[in-house]
Amino acid sequence: MARNMSETLPILVVPHPILRARAKPVTAADDAAVRELAQKMLATMYKAPGIGLAAPQVGVGLRLIVVDVAPKEAPAPMVMVNPEIVAQSSELATREEGCLSLPGQYAEVTRPARVLVRYQALDGSRQQIEAEGLLSACLQHEIDHLNGVLFVDHLSPLRRNMILRRLAKEQRAKAREATAP
Ligand code: NI
Repeated sequence: MARNMSETLPILVVPHPILRARAKPVTAADDAAVRELAQKMLATMYKAPGIGLAAPQVGVGLRLIVVDVAPKEAPAPMVMVNPEIVAQSSELATREEGCLSLPGQYAEVTRPARVLVRYQALDGSRQQIEAEGLLSACLQHEIDHLNGVLFVDHLSPLRRNMILRRLAKEQRAKAREATAP
């Protein structure tokens, strides 16, 4: 994977309205533009660095995600077009999540432990994957993004507001720093 060859994209930060919108289905998964966007998203994700990225996070309202939960020395990029959770376990699992659109913010999130996800690959073929552990949480997190849902939405209103206020405060401080003489 020539990950350094691809151009990266700016990542939108909360409260950008695109992050709260429902993304539209990709009509042709094998379109050259979709392939190019997926490559740029992978490059953006690796550079961040992160383990998942959804198209709305780079300002594109399409149902497309990229994921790589493999160790850095053995990258295993996955591109999923129109991913959909078709089954989930009743058993739950809790793990710490963060998000490139909420930089510096982390919280324990509880989700179904296992999911079955159907999607299209970049060649247009229909695929499905059964995921558990980190991959399961990551897929659910990224598919949430396609529905305008953020990991903080899985927390209590109190905890969510605390994180969003802290993020806003940190972003204001960063903007001040950037404009300081
Ligand atoms: Ni995220």
